[in-house]
Amino acid sequence: MNDSLEALRGEVLEHIQKSDSEKELEELRVGVLGRSGKVTLLLRGLKDLPAEERPRAGEQLNQLRRLVEERIDTRLVAIKEQSRERALKEEQIDITLPGTRWERGRTHPLTLVIDEIVDVFLAMGFEIARGPDIEDDYYNFEALNIPKDHPARDMQDTFFVSNGRLLRTHTSPVQIRTMERRKPPLQVIVPGAVYRHDDDATHSPMFHQVEGFMVDDRIALSDLKGVLSHFLRQIFSQETGVRFRPSFFPFTEPSAEIDIQCLICGGESSAARQTCRVCKGSGWLEIMGAGMIDPHVFKFVRYDPEKVSGFAFGMGVERIAMLKYGIDDIRLFFQNDLRFLRQFG
Ligand code: DAH
Repeated sequence: MNDSLEALRGEVLEHIQKSDSEKELEELRVGVLGRSGKVTLLLRGLKDLPAEERPRAGEQLNQLRRLVEERIDTRLVAIKEQSRERALKEEQIDITLPGTRWERGRTHPLTLVIDEIVDVFLAMGFEIARGPDIEDDYYNFEALNIPKDHPARDMQDTFFVSNGRLLRTHTSPVQIRTMERRKPPLQVIVPGAVYRHDDDATHSPMFHQVEGFMVDDRIALSDLKGVLSHFLRQIFSQETGVRFRPSFFPFTEPSAEIDIQCLICGGESSAARQTCRVCKGSGWLEIMGAGMIDPHVFKFVRYDPEKVSGFAFGMGVERIAMLKYGIDDIRLFFQNDLRFLRQFG
């Protein structure tokens, strides 16, 4: 009994030492100390020994059991420590690697241009007003002196919504909304989105305008010329030639279209003008509509045309941005291609 116990002890302790996983140790524990483990069976066999040998043998077996338990626990701790160290080594984080970059957004080119336009007018004492994108026929047309069945409605391919409502085709309705609520003097600009059923390289179904108007008791055409010439020279350059060309809008009388010298070919005096695709050889670029507010419009808002006068103007933001940055397709503004957008701001 003594020799075989000694052998078992040696064998088990060696096995424990060689084990390198929790699973292996657990199997070993069951095989030795479990219900039909080797030591357990020996303990059970004690009763078959002569009475005088039992205490000693029992004592030895119990010692072995405790020793095995102890060694298994010690080995377990060692194995856990080892695997922790291995993990630490393998999962080491290289803090010198560059992290994930956060892309910083930029201001959209149209927002840049709107901000620039607005700033020039704010500096001249204008204030900002806004109106709804979904408008009533009354504000978009009627009160702007464009009666039902008037051919001028044709120029603005309107998106109708329902119940006589529509997506505003221009920012001019905000003139009416503002004057309805307030008395002169007024000096207001209206940046905003407008909508027309039109879609090609130079037209987008949604685009932006900046409207403006000034109303007081003695506003004259010369005020319109002064304010808008100053504005255009701030936006383009001090040297830019500006001309006022007679035109027609139902809500202004007289009306004008304002041109600037072609930014691409340099205008009239340049030899490149003949073949310029942007101004089509004219040397001029149409940049905005304007005029003296029609007395009929004042009547709609209960202003007395004998006592007040004013001018108004409207311009397309995309067109100005395209000319400023030399962009030849309006759709680029709305495609959200980062390669395009990253060039601004
Ligand atoms: N509302 C016009 C348009 O969208 C632009 C315009 C022209 C506005 C002349 C004005 C103006 O205020 O006086 O085509």
